[in-house]
Amino acid sequence: MEARARSDRPLVLVDAAIPDGPLTALDGLADVARFADAEELERLIAERGPRVRGLGVQLTTAVDEALLARLPALEIVADYAVGYDNVDLPAAARRGVAVTHTPDVLTDATADLTWALILAVARRLLEADRLARSGQWAGWHPRQLLGRELTGGTLAILGLGRIGEAVARRGRAFGMRVVYWSRSARPALERELEARRLELREALGVADVVSIHLPLTDETRHLLDAQRLAHMRSDAILVNTARGPIVDEEALADALEGGQLLGAGLDVHEREPDVHPRLAASPRTVLLPHVGSATVATRERMAEVVARNLRAVIGGEPPPDPVPGPG
Ligand code: DGY
Repeated sequence: MEARARSDRPLVLVDAAIPDGPLTALDGLADVARFADAEELERLIAERGPRVRGLGVQLTTAVDEALLARLPALEIVADYAVGYDNVDLPAAARRGVAVTHTPDVLTDATADLTWALILAVARRLLEADRLARSGQWAGWHPRQLLGRELTGGTLAILGLGRIGEAVARRGRAFGMRVVYWSRSARPALERELEARRLELREALGVADVVSIHLPLTDETRHLLDAQRLAHMRSDAILVNTARGPIVDEEALADALEGGQLLGAGLDVHEREPDVHPRLAASPRTVLLPHVGSATVATRERMAEVVARNLRAVIGGEPPPDPVPGPG
């Protein structure tokens, strides 16, 4: 078959921060234009919008009705993330645009980071690190920097999907009991991990550690508000590696200052890249800049998933990794 003339070939716009290598999978099938920022995306759309068949974006790009309206030939939005709250799904569905994400490949990296946060808060790693570097350390002391033991405690997983499951498995290895609150029951996993499915209030009330692994939706926004935080034990730790707006940060800051919670480990924040000033000032928090999936290997695999979905849809096949439907 004769190769298509360059100008007839489908055009795919891909965020320049997404690793290059895997995108060679599109060679021969489409022209790929990379954009470094919103301004460059804007320029590409203004110049070549009607030719664009695929879009590869990171989670900081809002793909909304207005953007989609300017891409009449668009067939796929491939999100470089497992969470896809940056895409207006109903608007994409109305236009027949497929939306894909990167499940599985980042599960272990994110679960590891979740445990790094749990341990950092429980064992006061930041305070300990500061003391070790300060030149003020006077040597071993029986009451120095006493932390919270986890073995024998209860880990509550909010959202027992892939990442929640991986965090729960690691919790078992740390000798913790697992309880969970999730839309769907996981009876086989319950048996395997001796886990119990509870109502949200009960799960919050029994947990030594509460770890959030839910998507951000209208239902989960501010799920952890003042009222729900008040159900947690005063010696409990809250960890969020999912999406910042699931936690009402103002309420969390109040709860920490009021001694209603032992501490919090947050990889994600309500108004990224802003970090809540009272949470930043608190000695009870460990705060990270959204690095759950940030390993070299994982970020490469995420790019492979973006590339395989773009390739499939532009080539007329169904996407291998569509976002889950409603319900
Ligand atoms: C995601 O994939 O949704 C994470 O937040 C970034 O990897």
